[in-house]
Amino acid sequence: MMTFAPVEPAYRVEPELIGPETFVVRSLQPALGAPLSVYLNSLVIRGAEPVIVDTGTIANRKQWLDDVFGLVEPTDVRWVFLSHDDIDHTGNLEEVMAACPNATLVASWAITERHSNAFEFPLERCRWINDGSSIIAGDRELVAVRPPMYDSPTTRGLFDASTGVYWAVDCFASPVPGNDPVTTVAELEPNFWREGMTMFMHHALSPWLSIVDPVRFAAVCDENRKLGMTTIATAHAPVITAQSIDAAYELARSMPTVTPPPAPDQNVLDEIIAATAA
Ligand SMILES: [Fe+2]
Ligand SMILES: [Fe+2]
Repeated sequence: MMTFAPVEPAYRVEPELIGPETFVVRSLQPALGAPLSVYLNSLVIRGAEPVIVDTGTIANRKQWLDDVFGLVEPTDVRWVFLSHDDIDHTGNLEEVMAACPNATLVASWAITERHSNAFEFPLERCRWINDGSSIIAGDRELVAVRPPMYDSPTTRGLFDASTGVYWAVDCFASPVPGNDPVTTVAELEPNFWREGMTMFMHHALSPWLSIVDPVRFAAVCDENRKLGMTTIATAHAPVITAQSIDAAYELARSMPTVTPPPAPDQNVLDEIIAATAA
């Protein structure tokens, strides 16, 4: 019997402390047909009311649950924030809601509408918040803010003004070389970073970049930057530390006017298959 179960990551990438009581929970997936890897991250905020931000992947389920519950006791988790309804962010939602009986699920009308085919939302345990709204998680206010680039209409990032950490969801996604788990984008060669982000933003996240007004888009980027974040964590890139934030927004602003490389086509798939067979 053929099985199509996703392949578990070949090795573990440890959670990374990126701010006070704030951890990126990481895994790495090899990119197809290129000597690159892509992060699949989520976030844990330990505070008076601990928060799990996105719920990892099915492929990494066992390690993800071990990593998250190594940082926070399931019964202490008070909030589960879903940034959007993509499978790489909802992979362990059911496991988390079952393990964390005191957690409120922070979703939205659109997330619920779009994801009820895969998950029975416990509505009495849900809170709906939209772009610009916030929750008070004990000792901190967490503001839902949509990043400038995204792949789902439901996307809201999460900004913690008490630590300066902004969860930018899929925005700024960019691969890393080989299977080298570099921790910050400052460790990437600048051209590699720019090319990787261009490829991902145009072909894997926000193809609408080619049709937006560059000036209006730049203003959206600037507005987002004004949150005043000092660290950006994202699902699919190394951490963007303070020294790299302006460069990240410079790259973002340029996206509508840069020409991306061609999207991989059947010829590329044939090459990947041939290379795998060899
Ligand atoms: Fe996504
Ligand atoms: Fe994602």
